[in-house]
Amino acid sequence: MPMDPSQWIDVTTEKNHYSLDHFVIPTHYEQDVSSILIPHGVIMDRVNKLARLIVDDATGPLVVCCILKGGHQYFADLVNAVKKLTNKDGKTIPLSLEFIRVKSYKNDKSEGVTMSITDEECKEFEGKNLLIVEDIIDTGATMVQLLKKLGTYSPKSVKVTSLLIKKTPRSNGYIPDYVGFSIPDEFVVGYALDYNEYFRDLDHICVISEHGKQAYAV
Ligand code: HPA
Ligand code: MG
Repeated sequence: MPMDPSQWIDVTTEKNHYSLDHFVIPTHYEQDVSSILIPHGVIMDRVNKLARLIVDDATGPLVVCCILKGGHQYFADLVNAVKKLTNKDGKTIPLSLEFIRVKSYKNDKSEGVTMSITDEECKEFEGKNLLIVEDIIDTGATMVQLLKKLGTYSPKSVKVTSLLIKKTPRSNGYIPDYVGFSIPDEFVVGYALDYNEYFRDLDHICVISEHGKQAYAV
């Protein structure tokens, strides 16, 4: 079920415009981001809540699917949090982990998607409860395509969590079951979200600067 927008945190550049001086950021990125949108500590607190919501809804084992590469940090922190929680019956949730490589961006433009998941791997999804873990829903095109493909392997259920959802007129309207934050229509980096493979080594979620876009363009 799509999450109700009142349940996620709406981040705007007006409200959440932390100066780079307010937190520690790697010196090699000082010129390349214009502001800190979501500090790492806030991300971690929100991940704990998302884990709580997921465990509250879980009735049995989950196959947690990490969408690489951008989803890896959220996936790692989320799985860690879920492992420590029990559901309403006082039971922990058995987890198995899967990794799917999805690639869709060159510079800051979407250029269609490629997925690295074989038929062989997908066949294991039959009858399972899947939880897809994504870093960001931007246009929604990647997720809709992925869900279509996964659906053909007859999983028992498929739920999606995305740490971020972008408020963009290019959206196809897709909304995940569990969303951390909605963000403005800006290109963001950090917490494993990249720009041409850079910025994955930045903990906070930041808005890339013009300087950064030029410095790391391909
Ligand atoms: N940043 C990084 N990766 C992305 C974004 C973004 O804003 N949108 C879609 N993939
Ligand atoms: Mg992604």
